[in-house]
Amino acid sequence: MCGIVGYVGDQNACDIIIDGLKKLEYRGYDSSGIALYEKGELEIHKYKGRISNLEDAIADYNFKSTIGIGHTRWATHGEPSDLNAHPHVSMDKTIAVVHNGIVENFVELKEWLIKEHGIVFTSGTDTEVIAHLIQVCYKGDLTDAVFEAVDKMRGAYALGVVCSKEPDKLIAVRKDSPLVVGLGKGSNFIASDIPALLKHVREIYLIENNETVVLTKNKVTLYNAERQEVKREVFHVTWDADAAEKEGYDHFMLKEIHEQPKGILKTLTRRLGENNEINLDGITMTKDDIESFNKVYIVACGTAYHAGMVGKFIIEKLAKIPVEIDVASEFRYRDPFVDDKTLFIAVSQSGETLDTLAALREAKRKGARVLSIVNVVGSSVARESDDVFYTWAGPEIAVASTKAYTTQLMCMYLIALYMGKTKGCLPIEEYTRYLEELKEIPDKIKTILKQEKVIQNMAKELYKREQVFFIGRGADVGVSYEGSLKLKEISYINSFAIAAGELKHGTIALIEQDTLVIALATQDALFAKMLSNIQEVKARGAYVVGFAKENNKEMGRQANQVFYIPECMDEITPLLSVIPLQMLAYYIAKLRGCDIDKPKNLAKSVTVE
Ligand code: M6R
Repeated sequence: MCGIVGYVGDQNACDIIIDGLKKLEYRGYDSSGIALYEKGELEIHKYKGRISNLEDAIADYNFKSTIGIGHTRWATHGEPSDLNAHPHVSMDKTIAVVHNGIVENFVELKEWLIKEHGIVFTSGTDTEVIAHLIQVCYKGDLTDAVFEAVDKMRGAYALGVVCSKEPDKLIAVRKDSPLVVGLGKGSNFIASDIPALLKHVREIYLIENNETVVLTKNKVTLYNAERQEVKREVFHVTWDADAAEKEGYDHFMLKEIHEQPKGILKTLTRRLGENNEINLDGITMTKDDIESFNKVYIVACGTAYHAGMVGKFIIEKLAKIPVEIDVASEFRYRDPFVDDKTLFIAVSQSGETLDTLAALREAKRKGARVLSIVNVVGSSVARESDDVFYTWAGPEIAVASTKAYTTQLMCMYLIALYMGKTKGCLPIEEYTRYLEELKEIPDKIKTILKQEKVIQNMAKELYKREQVFFIGRGADVGVSYEGSLKLKEISYINSFAIAAGELKHGTIALIEQDTLVIALATQDALFAKMLSNIQEVKARGAYVVGFAKENNKEMGRQANQVFYIPECMDEITPLLSVIPLQMLAYYIAKLRGCDIDKPKNLAKSVTVE
């Protein structure tokens, strides 16, 4: 969940690394640091807090180095502090390491290094062992030393290593944590993610697990775990570097909320051929495969899991196949009932979430067919899946996921429609009606976005609340969970979501005078039931904000405040109803003065268990 950047070449390494780290700050932001080879030795600077602290602290040094590594951290071992920030250096100060991941056997390695080599540790991190380990393995060749050290390590890691005794060489290693290499002219780069490199290069190597890369300014060599040289195809990045910029918006989150019509349209049109045929280009799953599945498992974390909640609802309804959903961290440890008749759908924006990746591997081991819904092309989840249904959301930078969620939903609809049609359980008129409605969604979202002022005013009324309940039924349940997560993760308001019918089984005990209840009632078929639930909470004094379709004006009479979404089929409302909830979370967090794009304790890409 940290970000690493490394550079070797002719240019100023410090500027390149700091700039790259800023692009990776979404991955972790409790401390940052840099190691540069300056005047015959390694200069290390590292500070608690945001990258701006590091930048300010080294502003006057005027470094000239052309090789170095940098890191932005999300603490796992050891609290955020100057001392625990990376890079970590070997005791003899010749080797510096940046690390994203966890060294699982660090306690035993640490004891061995202390006992056998008299190493003195200075930080509370697991990473420090790596620097010392490389030092004790060093016998005149850095590449040999890194190979030997990595052999002794267990866990997940992407590493960047530099050594003052070999100042023309940068070494990187990948095991279960993302790593890319940027290929320039007289300049080569490493990073945890592509946006860090886009200013400089578009030719990339996607590094595979258990690979080691040796970079000099003119050469990049890849090795597998057996130390055989491996060849890799160059991946050419086509996205616009501006996609990773705020473009005048106050925050990435707001920009990404506004990008949803575009992302959804792209996700839909990439899969829609002539005559409303859904094309599965690049997907190897056949009609026979689809007919052979007797169960679907959707597994994911956080917002992606909430997309799975809607996916279950829609796939069961349209494709008539039982769907189980699970959070990835639970799935992988509970010996789930999965076999070769299971379609396993992994959902992940980053494609690097470790729990999701581990669940995917577990499902594969048990024989399931793996289809993933992923935003980042070439990510680990994408590469390890049998088939990938890409979301075309573009880079999502804000920690709070918005456009990834709605594009994931669009994929769910397309998968459900395709399966329903292929299995012959969805009549063609129904299939066509759904697709026609889906095509209208981008414009309907634009209509909602135009009502931003209404949501801003709502936020002004609500931002001082410290507790909120989200309730809904049917397709609104998953959206309630998502709305609640969005609000809590960026505004720190204690927010809780529950199926409205479940309230009376316990949670209603918490409703009292003025408790805020956000009621999603966008399902025509369940509207009357929702009105009863609203009555129940109002009878206990709740202040209700209702979300309903335009034609259900009764909501205006029942709720204290109301927001109407455009008319559409019940099953498709999640694509619309989540938009005002995202905006509400955003404006509430803004009024509370929160750091919206980088909420406390979180990171964008969760590559630890
Ligand atoms: O990259 P992924 O989609 O696998 O990430 C999963 C969750 O960590 C992510 O959705 C998280 O819940 C977001 N912060 C929610 O906004």
